[in-house]
Amino acid sequence: MRQHQTILILDFGSQYTQLIARRIREQAVYCEVHPYSVGLDKIRAMGPAGIVLSGGPMSVYEEGAPLISPELFGLGVPILGICYGAQLTAHLLGGKVDSATRREYGRAQVAVIEGVGALAGMAAGDSLAVWMSHGDHVDAIPPGFVHTASSDNCPFAGFADPARRIHCVQFHPEVVHTPRGAEILGNFLFRVCGLAGDWSMASFVDEAIARIRAQVGPEGRVICGLSGGVDSSVAAAILHKAIGDRLTCIFVDNGLLRRGERDQVDAVFRDHFKVDLRVIDATDRFLNALAGVTDPERKRKIIGLEFINVFDAEAKTIANARFLAQGTLYPDVIESVSVRGGPSHVIKSHHNVGGLPERMNLALVEPLRELFKDEVRALGAELGLPRHMLMRQPFPGPGLAVRCLGDLRKERLDVLRAADAIIEEEIRSAGLYESIWQSFGVLLPVRSVGVMGDARTYEETLAVRAVHSRDGMTADWVPLPHDLLGRISSRVINEVRGINRVVYDITSKPPGTIEWE
Ligand code: XMP
Repeated sequence: MRQHQTILILDFGSQYTQLIARRIREQAVYCEVHPYSVGLDKIRAMGPAGIVLSGGPMSVYEEGAPLISPELFGLGVPILGICYGAQLTAHLLGGKVDSATRREYGRAQVAVIEGVGALAGMAAGDSLAVWMSHGDHVDAIPPGFVHTASSDNCPFAGFADPARRIHCVQFHPEVVHTPRGAEILGNFLFRVCGLAGDWSMASFVDEAIARIRAQVGPEGRVICGLSGGVDSSVAAAILHKAIGDRLTCIFVDNGLLRRGERDQVDAVFRDHFKVDLRVIDATDRFLNALAGVTDPERKRKIIGLEFINVFDAEAKTIANARFLAQGTLYPDVIESVSVRGGPSHVIKSHHNVGGLPERMNLALVEPLRELFKDEVRALGAELGLPRHMLMRQPFPGPGLAVRCLGDLRKERLDVLRAADAIIEEEIRSAGLYESIWQSFGVLLPVRSVGVMGDARTYEETLAVRAVHSRDGMTADWVPLPHDLLGRISSRVINEVRGINRVVYDITSKPPGTIEWE
């Protein structure tokens, strides 16, 4: 099935495993992440052109440590061991791993001893800035290996068996704090594995279209829920290219959208792509169901349920639909490895349409399930979606409901929509929109006294929130320039009736969450 040369990344539970995958794909090489326990038969069947052993939190000599069969090293496939992956290689091939006298975490300097393989192009004596994160280190390298790099705290920072094409580094080439990391990964990919770099969005489009056509068949119809976000938009665009008018898109206006969102979806999909788009105005239905509800979890549950009801009712009017499209991305597909176990708590019940396919008896089509977010954007650009849509900041499924604290009346939502549009406009004109993960307004049911002209006001409060994040799991508040905050504040108070005070949220996640509800 797979037409590209593939690198297999075996995951031993490192927080950086996905980063390895992204760094490899950035070099136009296709790769997949699988748990370390995937098994030799499956690995043989995949036929990888190279294997990367990731880092991980455990010690190779600890009970229950994640191990692999030493036969892996006899497959004749080039191997790159990173951190735990390097220690594991040493451990399994007759070297020695021990606990380091000093844990090493952070920046370090590594001296090159022999510039071979992954370190090709580097001269003996060169000093490399690298990122280290380890408690153990290799004390003795396996027989037949050469010593390629060392640091003060880690004598065997690099070692390799060039004849068997096995290369190991104790440091992390995948993180930006290792400035020559991309070169080191590139050396492995192109010099050691001899890859061509054949993974491009243009070639992906043709393959994805062929796969969609094969799955859906010559007659099948597909339904796709459009949210206005990047993932569902790109999924719809590629499906449309693959099956044309056998795709029907459903866009539910729940009255909780940002300003202009519905018009934009209409303009792009109906007018430009000529997609069979059904826009359902369900504002009254949602707002009636939400009337008087202020509890955050109840809001979320009601919105999720109403969405499914509305979507289901519309989908039933589409004759012969057997497939439902979903914009699932690769990070959701990767089976996460938790070598130490660990509880995961539901902090907020997220809005998703997970229950839909079973209820509607539809098969899933997931054209983006191999892609990372940045690749989805590149694919969208390839398909002609406007940049404005592709670079839009993430927006939660329950929409403005989780940013409008208290009662969800239409008037209050309109106030928030107007204020939020000003924030977006100002952040965009300051040139910051695309570098910030999310920036938005939150309407608080807190009234305070103000004075405008000569008159007393008694109105609600707008909190401005802007965060930097990589994946939404953790976030830092953004120190927006004071003059920008000033412009947002004065424009909101002057232009939006109903708000007379603006405050700035300086809470990171944790301990806060990004959305207020
Ligand atoms: P929190 O508020 O949990 O948000 O820190 C983390 C990220 O998730 C987004 N978010 C949602 N996305 N459905 C979504 O698709 C939801 O129900 C939902 N709730 C929060 C939020 O905007 C942030 O990017």
